[in-house]
Amino acid sequence: MMLELRNVNTVYGEMPVLNNVTLQVRRGETVCILGANGAGKTTLLKTILGLVKPVTGSVHFLGERIDGLPIHHVVRKGIAIVPEREGLFPDLPVEKNLLLGAYHEGNKNIIEERLEHIYELFPRLKERKRQRAGTLSGGERKMLYIARALLADPKLILLDEPSLGLAPAIVNEVFAMISRIKKENQITFILVEQNARKALRVSERGYVLQKGQIVYEGTTDEMQKSTVLQQSYLGTAS
Ligand SMILES: Nc1ncnc2c1ncn2[C@@H]1O[C@H](COP(=O)(O)OP(=O)(O)O)[C@@H](O)[C@H]1O
Ligand SMILES: [Mg+2]
Repeated sequence: MMLELRNVNTVYGEMPVLNNVTLQVRRGETVCILGANGAGKTTLLKTILGLVKPVTGSVHFLGERIDGLPIHHVVRKGIAIVPEREGLFPDLPVEKNLLLGAYHEGNKNIIEERLEHIYELFPRLKERKRQRAGTLSGGERKMLYIARALLADPKLILLDEPSLGLAPAIVNEVFAMISRIKKENQITFILVEQNARKALRVSERGYVLQKGQIVYEGTTDEMQKSTVLQQSYLGTAS
């Protein structure tokens, strides 16, 4: 098992958010977490990364307990996040933002090699590497987040709503990139989405989170056939 959450409970102040969440992710899988706005999806990812500490329960990565570790330790172990929209330095050039992904890597040659590989994958970021990150379009910004996560050479990438706020054509581009990265690299993904149809297409398994609780778990085939999910999650999303 690559990642495991066991009976995780989290709170913000007095307010409970995650309620007894248990889930597993195997090496090489893409697992989607579906759920409405406010269900606790981002909190779940923050808990894996160590930004939110569970009140009870535990998080295990490659057989080792990681809840309670400082974030930079978790990052060094091989977990990277593609955030919804935070964590970009708009006044810094694209390349400087990108290099933040490899801040824990001391070897310049390794960083150069990775950067070269990343620029092959994302030629538009290469063209814009000296441009202020704040001038990028929404889609380009999303690509920058993905590229920055890859620069850390992670084993597991946490994707927080990659489709959010993007035009349909750009959403397709982003998902095509995720599929390509899956094919070319040995990376495991946790994909958090409200866009259930898109998410199920690139995932092997999924969970549904409702008010902080896992209410459904299955393969994506099972999920696509589920009438309950059809009604509540697949009916309206495009
Ligand atoms: N930093 C915070 N402080 C207090 N409440 C928060 C904080 N972040 C999120 N919440 C609340 O926790 C719940 C879950 O939020 P979140 O994990 O962001 O959900 P999702 O990503 O599924 O939309 C929501 O009710 C939200 O308002
Ligand atoms: Mg969220």
